[in-house]
Amino acid sequence: MTRYTLITGACGGLGGAFTELLAERGEALYLTGRSEARLCALARKLKEKFPACEVRTRACDLTDSAQRTAFFAHTDGEGVVFQRLIYVAGVDTQMATERYTEEKLVMQTRVNLEGAVSFIRATLARAPLDGKTEILAVGSMSAVTPMPYFALYSATKRALAQFCEGLRTEMKGRAKVTCVWPGGIPTREDIKQNIEEHGFWGKISAKSPREVARIALKAVRKNKRKKIVGFWNRVISFFSALAPAPLRMRFIARRWRQTEKDAFSADREKIEEMG
Ligand SMILES: NC(=O)c1ccc[n+]([C@@H]2O[C@H](COP(=O)([O-])OP(=O)(O)OC[C@H]3O[C@@H](n4cnc5c(N)ncnc54)[C@H](OP(=O)(O)O)[C@@H]3O)[C@@H](O)[C@H]2O)c1
Repeated sequence: MTRYTLITGACGGLGGAFTELLAERGEALYLTGRSEARLCALARKLKEKFPACEVRTRACDLTDSAQRTAFFAHTDGEGVVFQRLIYVAGVDTQMATERYTEEKLVMQTRVNLEGAVSFIRATLARAPLDGKTEILAVGSMSAVTPMPYFALYSATKRALAQFCEGLRTEMKGRAKVTCVWPGGIPTREDIKQNIEEHGFWGKISAKSPREVARIALKAVRKNKRKKIVGFWNRVISFFSALAPAPLRMRFIARRWRQTEKDAFSADREKIEEMG
C-alpha cells in the first residue's frame, strides 16, 4: 500500500522546497494549503517535472478545527495511509505586542501551535507506528530565547519544540519526532529584505530553503530530538544560553525593534488576490 508524506504549507517557500526534494526522490505526496487552485497548480507542475510522482491535494485552513477534522475524514475516505508529516505552515508576524490585533494573535497561535498539535495527533492516529513513521515540525531559531518584538512567534515556536520533545518520548520505538530550528530562510520578498537588514548576523544565520529541507529530512530520518540548522546558528544558540537574560533581552530588543513583518496583512492581500 502506498504511504504518503503529508506536507502543510506546501505552496510556501520552504514547503515548496520539501515538496520538490521528495518528488525528486519519488515519494508519494499529500499536499495541503488554503487554496485548492494553487495546490492543483503545484501538483500539475510536479507531475510535469516528475511524471512518476504520485501527488494528492486537499485545501485546509489550519486555524479552523472543523476544516482540520474534515481534512482527515476526506483522506480516510480515500484510504490514504501517512508515513510522514512535515508541518511547515507558520505565520511569522513580527511587531510590538501592543500593535497586535485579536485576529493577528489568534491566527498566529492557531497556525503555529494548535494546527501543528492537531495535525500531528491526527497523523499519528492514522500511521503504521512501525518505528518508520516520521513527524517533522518546522520550528525556528526564534525559539532559542524569548524575543522582544517577536514575542508571540518566538513563544509559539518554543511551545511547538517542547511539545515535540515530550511526544518524542511517548512515541519511542513507534515514530520518530523531530523539531527543526532554522535561522533565516530567503523565501518571501519581505523575509529576504529582513535578512539583508540584519547585515552580518542575518547572512551567517541564513540557509536556502532547499538546504534547510535537506538537513531537516536527514535529521528526522536519524530521529534527532531537535536540529538547529547551520554551524553559526549552533554557535549563536550556545552563547545565547550563557549570556545573562537582561543583557540578551536588551541586545535582541535593540536589533528587532527596527524591523517589522506583518504576515497577517500580507496574507489578507494574498487571499484577496486568490478571490
Ligand atoms: N523564512 C524564514 O526566515 C523562516 C525562519 C525560521 C522558520 N521559518 C518557518 O518556516 C515555515 C515556512 O516559512 P516560509 O518562509 O516558507 O513562509 P511562507 O512562504 O509564508 O509559507 C508559510 C506557509 O504557511 C501556510 N499557512 C499560513 N496560514 C495558514 C493557514 N491558516 N492554514 C493553512 N496554511 C497556512 C501558507 O499556506 P498558503 O498561503 O498556501 O495557504 C504558506 O504555505 C514557517 O513555519 C516559518 O515559521 C521560516
